Amino acid sequence: MTYNFDEIIERRHTNSIKWTAYPEDVLPMWVADMDFAVPEPIRDALHQAIERGEFGYAFATRKTKQIVAERMQRLYGWSVDPDWVMETTGVVSGFNIAARAYCRPSDGALIQTPAYPMFYSIYKNMGLTQQTAPLSFANEGGVLHPQLDLDAFARSFHSNHARTRMFLLCHPYNPTGQVFSREELLRMAETCLQNDAMIISDEIHCELLLDDAKHIPTAALSPEIADRTVTLISPSKTFNIAGLFSAFAIIPNAEAREKFKEASEKMTGHPSSLGLIAAETAFSGACDDWLNELRLYLARNRNFVMEYLAENFPQAKYTHPAATYLHWIDFGEYVRMGQIVDSPFKFFLENAKVAVNDGKPFGAGYENFIRLNFGAPRALVEQGLSQMKRALMPARY
Ligand SMILES: Cc1ncc(COP(=O)(O)O)c(C=O)c1O
Repeated sequence: MTYNFDEIIERRHTNSIKWTAYPEDVLPMWVADMDFAVPEPIRDALHQAIERGEFGYAFATRKTKQIVAERMQRLYGWSVDPDWVMETTGVVSGFNIAARAYCRPSDGALIQTPAYPMFYSIYKNMGLTQQTAPLSFANEGGVLHPQLDLDAFARSFHSNHARTRMFLLCHPYNPTGQVFSREELLRMAETCLQNDAMIISDEIHCELLLDDAKHIPTAALSPEIADRTVTLISPSKTFNIAGLFSAFAIIPNAEAREKFKEASEKMTGHPSSLGLIAAETAFSGACDDWLNELRLYLARNRNFVMEYLAENFPQAKYTHPAATYLHWIDFGEYVRMGQIVDSPFKFFLENAKVAVNDGKPFGAGYENFIRLNFGAPRALVEQGLSQMKRALMPARY
């Protein structure tokens, strides 16, 4: 490997949420940022900006939008007109803007569960009616395969006495790491069109593909689907620049774009100038060698975690992520056996000194799940898992 993903960067004495939310003796394996250094071309571009010493207000220029459009063409063969691209401060603000643009209070908005917890913010922030279509899981020797139940998906439209105005799709999927197939995407998108609902496709994880996984942008399925879709992307997860807050909404339909712009202006969000510089460099292709190696490193970490779980936590069930650096793990059997008292999240925090994400905020029924972030040097991943193992089987270690 050309790049050193094994390097451990001391982050405790920074403002990092990941490293400062818990006491110093706790190893953080929770929030979705990685413990790797940002690729050199992005750091160089930021250094140059700092050298210039100029940090005035900034917007996405024609050049920025062209870079975004060219990346969509290069990676997915999706032809994007730069005029369709709008900047947002983040993907979470992007789907909140969409909720305001396309829904009225008490309208329905559909999500699939388990859901990235911030998806629930649209209900609280916009007063929308919650509608959920749960995924189910097939268990094959401890490995959980998420299943899309298309009939249940179709039935969830207009549930809870509200008309569904938007479907907020997570693709690739946080927390399970699954990548939807063309067929699955098509069926979901067609159901949205039949029900006259907008599709807000959160594709923030689309470049974190492991092995030979392929990403298909929802809007690239057909012009009719593109016409009803807002695609939200950002280099923040892939290139580890989440704190720079720079994201983009791609909206082919002019009227939908206008509504989004209006809602965005009302919400007064503003992009960061350094974030835009980092995003331009990230999407320019200058970091793609780094990204290719990152994917290899993450795939090896994923395999390591799965082997470790199979060997040391025989009652745990876990996903096999095809994208992201997130594992979704069910410790329910240990709770039922009485080996874990209270939630697995709390158990590992208190007894292993490892902070993972609690499954509970991802949706009802996921209280015994955790989400584990393996986007870190192998030594840290190994340390966390071994502390978790010792906590669960203290008598043997
Ligand atoms: C699916 C998904 N969407 C959005 C975000 C956050 O996006 P942003 O930081 O750009 O608001 C995350 C972060 O983990 C995520 O997993």
